[in-house]
Amino acid sequence: MRHSPFRTKSPERLVAESGADLEGHGLQRTMGLFQLLCFGIGAIVGTGIFVVLADTVPEAGPAVIVSFVLAAVTCVFTAFSFAELGSAIPVSGSSYAYAYATMGELVAFLVGWCLLLEYGVSVSAVAVGWSQYLNELLGALTGRQLPALLSGAPGDGGVVNLPAVAVIAMAAVLLVRGVRESARATAVMAVIKIGVLVVFCAVALTAFDAGNLVPFSPHGLAGIGAGASLAFFSYIGFDAISTAGEEVRNPRRNIPLAILICIGVVTALYCLVAVAALGAMPADEIAGTPAALAVIVDRVTGSGAGAAVVSFGAVVAIASVVLAVMYGQTRILMSISRDGLVPRVFERVSPRTAAPVANTWIVAAVFALPAAFLPLDVVVDLTTVGTLALMAVVNLCVPLLRRARPDLRRGFTVPLYPLSPLLGFGFCLYLVHGLGAATWLRFAAYLAAGAAVYFAYGRSRSRLDAGGAGDAPAPGAG
Ligand code: ALA
Repeated sequence: MRHSPFRTKSPERLVAESGADLEGHGLQRTMGLFQLLCFGIGAIVGTGIFVVLADTVPEAGPAVIVSFVLAAVTCVFTAFSFAELGSAIPVSGSSYAYAYATMGELVAFLVGWCLLLEYGVSVSAVAVGWSQYLNELLGALTGRQLPALLSGAPGDGGVVNLPAVAVIAMAAVLLVRGVRESARATAVMAVIKIGVLVVFCAVALTAFDAGNLVPFSPHGLAGIGAGASLAFFSYIGFDAISTAGEEVRNPRRNIPLAILICIGVVTALYCLVAVAALGAMPADEIAGTPAALAVIVDRVTGSGAGAAVVSFGAVVAIASVVLAVMYGQTRILMSISRDGLVPRVFERVSPRTAAPVANTWIVAAVFALPAAFLPLDVVVDLTTVGTLALMAVVNLCVPLLRRARPDLRRGFTVPLYPLSPLLGFGFCLYLVHGLGAATWLRFAAYLAAGAAVYFAYGRSRSRLDAGGAGDAPAPGAG
């Protein structure tokens, strides 16, 4: 039966269908605040600070610090929106579920479609970054790297990127063993990578030269804005925390708290790393340098051991991003599958480990393909534009849900309502603008393909009419 693509699903039904409140069904509530923080850091800190920093510097110069702050401000306003929505609708679907509750099924499906860019395609991108750093580490430790043919995509002078495929397979093995083991592994990796970045700052600051920060902003506001669009990639993943809604103890308190603490810690860390890097090496030398953090430590200490330590940190950091982001992707697909919009295989969980096993292996297999055969820069822009678009939608969901359901219990409410979500929306669009017309066009084509899939497959298989109370047309959709 066909129904309006703008019909919404009630928050009560979203929560009830998630199985979150049914003892012995669905996923288990095993994560506390500390595990959640490590999970957030695991999802956020990775390829961005270790790789993309050197591509952001040519855009903004030393003012890259301002770009990081601009990207962080975008994330903070958006994180407030995620926190409010996550505390009102604590389910795994994240932005997909929030859109379903406020804007209706079509927009929710398109948000899910964008999540395939933010999570799935970035699993591929981040795995390719991991492969590069693994080679750096091997080179620093043994003097020999893997053959280029087996560790690079065709566009990068290779045939297949086997290390990128291997890290995806390793993440899948951890995830199918269940969240407790995965969260513990993520916690260890989060502590290691923060430690390595702090050590980097301590070493680089010993060679700090304030003269390197002049001229501060060689390309003016336009450069800072373009830099912020690139820097945003380094923050992607903070919303993964809200995809763990069904596995968190006391989610109304812990989810907003974890998101805000994560953004604060990561922003302080990124700004410190940028200041330390620029103080130790002039901006024009950092620009485009591969493994720039390792090169800086090398130069400051005059020893290859420093490069090995930083490369090891990058390998650990980026592996934990693959793990956390892949986790998020499987939970999002579970939510969409429950609604009938993708095949049911994605919602089955193992009775023994409570993990979605088939779902995890399908995600690993599908996103190993771009990891094996595509160069890093091809996927990064699309990941960023997809993420910004769905975050713009999330910011709009806050006023829509308040209007439609003022009665809903919210453990966290955004400050300065309605200014905060509106600023979040505006900042997201500003960063999309900085990505340029070619990316907008590619993204428009991707969205059109998503709409076609919805009308050809999802709309007729939707379970929205299969019962449940409180479903209604989206506010303003008639
Ligand atoms: N924020 C993630 C990273 O920097 C995507 O690797």
